[in-house]
Amino acid sequence: MEILRTVNEVRQWVQAQRVAGRAIHFVPTMGYFHEGHLSLMRRAKADGGAVIVSIFVNPLQFGANEDLDRYPRDFERDRQMAESVGVEAIFYPDMAEMYPSGYQTEVRVKELSKPLCGKSRPGHFEGVATVVLKLFNIVTPNRAYFGMKDYQQLRVIQQLVRDMNLPIEIVPCPIVREPDGLAMSSRNVYLTPEERRAATVLYRSLQWAQAQVESGERDAQKLRAGVLERIAAEPRARIDYVEVVDAETLLPVERIERPTLIALAVFFGRARLIDNCVVAI
Ligand code: PAF
Repeated sequence: MEILRTVNEVRQWVQAQRVAGRAIHFVPTMGYFHEGHLSLMRRAKADGGAVIVSIFVNPLQFGANEDLDRYPRDFERDRQMAESVGVEAIFYPDMAEMYPSGYQTEVRVKELSKPLCGKSRPGHFEGVATVVLKLFNIVTPNRAYFGMKDYQQLRVIQQLVRDMNLPIEIVPCPIVREPDGLAMSSRNVYLTPEERRAATVLYRSLQWAQAQVESGERDAQKLRAGVLERIAAEPRARIDYVEVVDAETLLPVERIERPTLIALAVFFGRARLIDNCVVAI
């Protein structure tokens, strides 16, 4: 497996793959891999391309009081995990390679960046859109793989690709969960054992909402109130938001009539966890 540290090294590697007639399948990440990341890499591999993963903890998408400094990192572990699922190259740039001095351009996907996490993390999706556009321009993938846990991120990137006419197929991949339902996240390492147990309330609440829709509930406010009530019953949970929105526009809905996203962000101690489900009728 190749470890590529510079944009030029990536370009040369990509060129060699293309000459060999191979498609480029790309998994952008911030590292500290878990089964969720590996599921994206396995899917990219199964789809038959040369798989390249990027690892870059992007400062542009962290707010001033967020966890940039303590975001977990372990390159050697990541390298081994990626290799074990057949990844052929890792792009592992340093800060100066991605944002050399004098860097000044930012990209904004206007409407989709506003609601949900955009409200509590101002500037976050501009940081994501900017680094993903840069990575896409460096790697020039045929396909790129994104997990649905970061559902709003996925929508922002789908819109970016459409608006900027990028010839890249975005492949959404299902959320991977622990056996007790907690969505896999690099940030789960921040949880104490008690918080880790308490955090299972998130998936249970989403499952409750899903079951309600399956048995005919169409009132978005009732679903939202029910999820809020269930999470609020857990004393270790501090709710950032629970929203019921159109799965495409991310705008609030009154009734469940089209594919609808139930999305939430909740703090347990210093970990801010997100989760969601899409209900379709
Ligand atoms: O989902 C992530 O890990 C990051 O937001 C991404 C897409 C790699 C951009 O930094």
